[in-house]
Amino acid sequence: MSSEPKKLLRALKGEVCTSPPIWLMRQAGRYLPEYRETRARGSDFLDVCLTPELAIDITLQPIRRYGLDAAILFSDILILPHALGQKVWFEEGIGPKLEPLCRVEDFKRLEPGRMADVLAPVYETLRRVRCELDEGTALIGFAGAPWTVASYMIEGGSSKDYATAKTWAYRAPEEFQTLIDLLVETTADYLIAQVDAGAEVLQLFDSWAGVWPEAALRHWCLAPAREIVRRVKAVHPKVPVILFPRGAGLMYRDFAADSGAEALGLDTTVPLDWARETLQGKVTLQGNLDPLLLVAGGAAQREGVQRVLEGLGRGPFIFNLGHGITPQAAPDNVAALVEQVRSWRP
Ligand code: CP3
Repeated sequence: MSSEPKKLLRALKGEVCTSPPIWLMRQAGRYLPEYRETRARGSDFLDVCLTPELAIDITLQPIRRYGLDAAILFSDILILPHALGQKVWFEEGIGPKLEPLCRVEDFKRLEPGRMADVLAPVYETLRRVRCELDEGTALIGFAGAPWTVASYMIEGGSSKDYATAKTWAYRAPEEFQTLIDLLVETTADYLIAQVDAGAEVLQLFDSWAGVWPEAALRHWCLAPAREIVRRVKAVHPKVPVILFPRGAGLMYRDFAADSGAEALGLDTTVPLDWARETLQGKVTLQGNLDPLLLVAGGAAQREGVQRVLEGLGRGPFIFNLGHGITPQAAPDNVAALVEQVRSWRP
């Protein structure tokens, strides 16, 4: 047993904890009444992310309520395109909108030189949150992975098939590569600065990794993730990284073997026995309760939680969801989840 008081950091070093650490993707969000109240005080969503008083308060809300093992910076993956000078806004009830990049010439209008100034409030939020956390709670910084962020930058928002971005990557891979390379570089710098400001763990969200066939997934998702991990670790060799290549399926194996990350976030569809046998000897696993069980609650939730714990809890493991918590989740169901995970023993 190490003397490290933060369970999350112990699990990321490969320790099996007496009841795994738990945090939840999107743990600060609309399912919490206190979030909706704070959110109402900022005008638009990006404003809230870039106002330390509000972002600090929201980051700490789920910690105060549930005593989770980690706080995750309150921000969004689309803060990076915003910091690069692309127009980004959030429409109530619709989601993110961006002025889309349509031609390779549009990439040249992105201005990495602006990043440090625009993102300064994010670093202030991290510094101040870190001071507020007790000795058992870790602070997670994050960014979107290059492919997922590029998909929003090109599609101009969410998309059901990523047809415009994927077609571009297939038709003019060298053009697409210049955008991915810019995102690799700026994302690595952004994550390094988050660690400088107090983040102790980093998660890279590749929410749309699952839309690619094998070779393209390797090229547009695995290779950029590996390069980001390499760049971050060249500056901060000890900071653990969690990759979340959602939908990667059997290719999770390649991420475990070849990304340099300490942990993989499993999406809801990944079979537990396969993950334990194939991946858990190589990396710490995180996941993968179906977030809709926190809407359903009751016996379905209890059984789902038990299944995840029995499936993965005897190896290095971090309890989480398989995707972000939904606005319809019941706060009481989250409390019951935390209680059940805390009382489980391997
Ligand atoms: O986990 C946390 O609590 C930290 C904060 C966080 C947010 N977004 C806050 C947010 C994190 C880590 C994200 C990541 C993110 N953002 C991802 C990757 C994870 C995933 O869910 O796949 C993606 C794809 C985005 C882009 C994004 N931001 C979308 C598609 C939307 C609209 C959908 C939605 O849930 O509303 C957002 C908005 C957003 N990001 C909200 C929050 C709390 C809701 C904004 C509001 O208050 O109206």
